[in-house]
Amino acid sequence: MLEGKKIVIGVTGGIAAYKTVTLVSRLVQAKAQVRVIMTEAATKLVSPLLFKEISGGPVACDMWCGNQEFNVEHVALGRWCDLMVVAPATANIIGKMANGIADDLLSTTLMACDKPKIICPAMNTNMLNNPAVMRNLETLSQDGISIMPSAAGHLACGVNGSGRLPEPEDIKEYIDHFFARHEGDLAGLKLLVTAGGTREAIDPVRFIGNRSSGKMGYAIARDAACRGADVVLVSGPVALEPPPCVRVIPVESTQEMLDACLAVYPDVDAVIKAAAVADYKPHHAAEQKIKKNEESLTLTLDKNPDILKLLGERKTHQFLVGFAAETQHLVENAAAKVRKKNLDMIVANDVTVKGAGFSTDTNIVKFLFPDGSIREPGLLTKEEVGNLILDIVKEHFRK
Ligand code: CTP
Repeated sequence: MLEGKKIVIGVTGGIAAYKTVTLVSRLVQAKAQVRVIMTEAATKLVSPLLFKEISGGPVACDMWCGNQEFNVEHVALGRWCDLMVVAPATANIIGKMANGIADDLLSTTLMACDKPKIICPAMNTNMLNNPAVMRNLETLSQDGISIMPSAAGHLACGVNGSGRLPEPEDIKEYIDHFFARHEGDLAGLKLLVTAGGTREAIDPVRFIGNRSSGKMGYAIARDAACRGADVVLVSGPVALEPPPCVRVIPVESTQEMLDACLAVYPDVDAVIKAAAVADYKPHHAAEQKIKKNEESLTLTLDKNPDILKLLGERKTHQFLVGFAAETQHLVENAAAKVRKKNLDMIVANDVTVKGAGFSTDTNIVKFLFPDGSIREPGLLTKEEVGNLILDIVKEHFRK
């Protein structure tokens, strides 16, 4: 998404300005054209020469020095670019932008620029929580400016809290997704993806779970977001990093997953239900840890709701994709689930086959459709399977 994109990076005088050097480098490596504007305070922290070398272009710092690239620099840079990004954005530049103050090259360019803008606030936690800053951020958000949430962690002032400039790689991803949401082949599509296994409590320390790693659902959610979709990921507990630019709703039990899915269901265009849902739960979850007194322990299990079946019954316009992990009679079992759950497609795999199933990076799947047709793409990475599913969802909506 970044290749050939013209991006103006505004650097203000936050201590994290040094990270912006890496951001510029990453953007240049991704073949974006980058021009840097620095405020005077930023030049006290990082040399403009460094940004010049890394960006491969002149660095604009001053309204009044004669040696500028463009004739009327503040207008020309805003006209030249596809996007302006301010990173780090101090409370000062946020205040100026929100209140229409233009008193240096960066604030003037921001005001003269009618292209999309992203700001990455970075400051001390108390400053970030200051009512004036919060008010200004709210104003900027209402003005249509994208605000990348700051990260939490160690701050230069010695405390741990929110207000950290996100890592350059994450800002790059955010910019990439920003373009994807406008230009990606899934732009405008709203997707609900579920991933991981659900857990049913036996007592406060034990649960019934399954071997799902969540890799398939996470790969789909990440790829869909990279292709511009607006993605909600309802996830059981997994050992995976949340994909960037995806709204993650963490859940534990099947009931929690059902509630989360039903809440977003009316607004989504498609559902990809990759989660391994626990079909049964203990009739009674003990309030205290169960002690090992008896020689044997019998648990009575109750059937959980079938989330996908309920979504199928309530379907209005949504394209529903289910998964079927089988150990025998793959096609028959998967086809029966398409009918029973009112699906538009099911992704079936035989988990006993080498290279398919839980915890592997590959999968061997068959796609089954309600008209009885079957597609068999062969051995693929989970990433490739995810992209194929997304291609089919896209085909459906582009018809
Ligand atoms: N599913 C669900 N809710 C359940 C069980 C399954 O939403 N309580 C969804 C899964 O996310 C998957 C599809 O239904 O997309 C098929 O799941 P699977 O476990 O293969 O089938 P089941 O319907 O549970 O049938 P069985 O376990 O008897 O094979």
